[in-house]
Amino acid sequence: MVEAKKDVVADYNGYDYKKIFWEDTDRKYEDMADRMAIRRLLPQQMDTFVDIAGGYGRLADEYLPRAKSATLFDYSKTELAQAREMYGNKIKTQPGDIYDLPFKDDSFDALMMIRATHHFKEMQKVSDELYRILKPGGIAVIEVANKKTLPKMVRYWTKKSEINPFSRDVAHLKDLNSDGFYNYHPKYIEEVFQKSGFKIKKVLSVSNFRSAKLKKVFGTKNLVRMEKVAQKALAPIRFAPSIYYKLEK
Ligand SMILES: C[S@@+](CC[C@H](N)C(=O)[O-])C[C@H]1O[C@@H](n2cnc3c(N)ncnc32)[C@H](O)[C@@H]1O
Repeated sequence: MVEAKKDVVADYNGYDYKKIFWEDTDRKYEDMADRMAIRRLLPQQMDTFVDIAGGYGRLADEYLPRAKSATLFDYSKTELAQAREMYGNKIKTQPGDIYDLPFKDDSFDALMMIRATHHFKEMQKVSDELYRILKPGGIAVIEVANKKTLPKMVRYWTKKSEINPFSRDVAHLKDLNSDGFYNYHPKYIEEVFQKSGFKIKKVLSVSNFRSAKLKKVFGTKNLVRMEKVAQKALAPIRFAPSIYYKLEK
């Protein structure tokens, strides 16, 4: 049994994230936007790779063909069991807590961590741990939940939210005990990565059109076409709710 402090874990044990979040809701556009970014940022070939907080391995088919050895790390044993059902021995599974990764220093050529930062309050500790387990020259592809988006600005200006998207402090949007939800200012998180020692190699703006209304008006296919251009074009202004970083140790 992996023990972790209550306030640092979003516990997905017993929660069917795959079915409830991805299959019962129309999130095809978001899934395709994630995949597009990963294809653009992840090395083509890797000897050793780990998917951190990788859940049930939603994105495993993106990295399995590129990695000689792939490990899926997550706190939730429910998720890891689902991954083993889907991928068998193609993937190694490892339970544990992000704040204390059960891997030796300099273990991996590459790692990714997608849709997880919104659960983590202490990103400096997380970033330091990710840096530690990468080999020198290793690559980390990390998705960050962005605090400074247009809808969040509008909510702030119209006084629907008190969270100031322009300030660099960490935004805590909901009660952690229900579903912890942290957002980060791009400047803040970039300083965190650099403090760990990472070099920022590339940035993408991802899931730019994450909106039920836009899906209705344009349809998923057209949004994905627009997304292809927007990921690079809007990266300099860190526009989207997901900002992807390609970092090098
Ligand atoms: C939103 S899911 C994302 C899963 C996957 N990366 C994806 O994009 O489909 C967040 C994942 O973070 C994991 N998680 C939350 N807190 C954690 C912690 N402290 N240590 C390790 N994993 C954690 C959860 O179990 C869950 O699988």
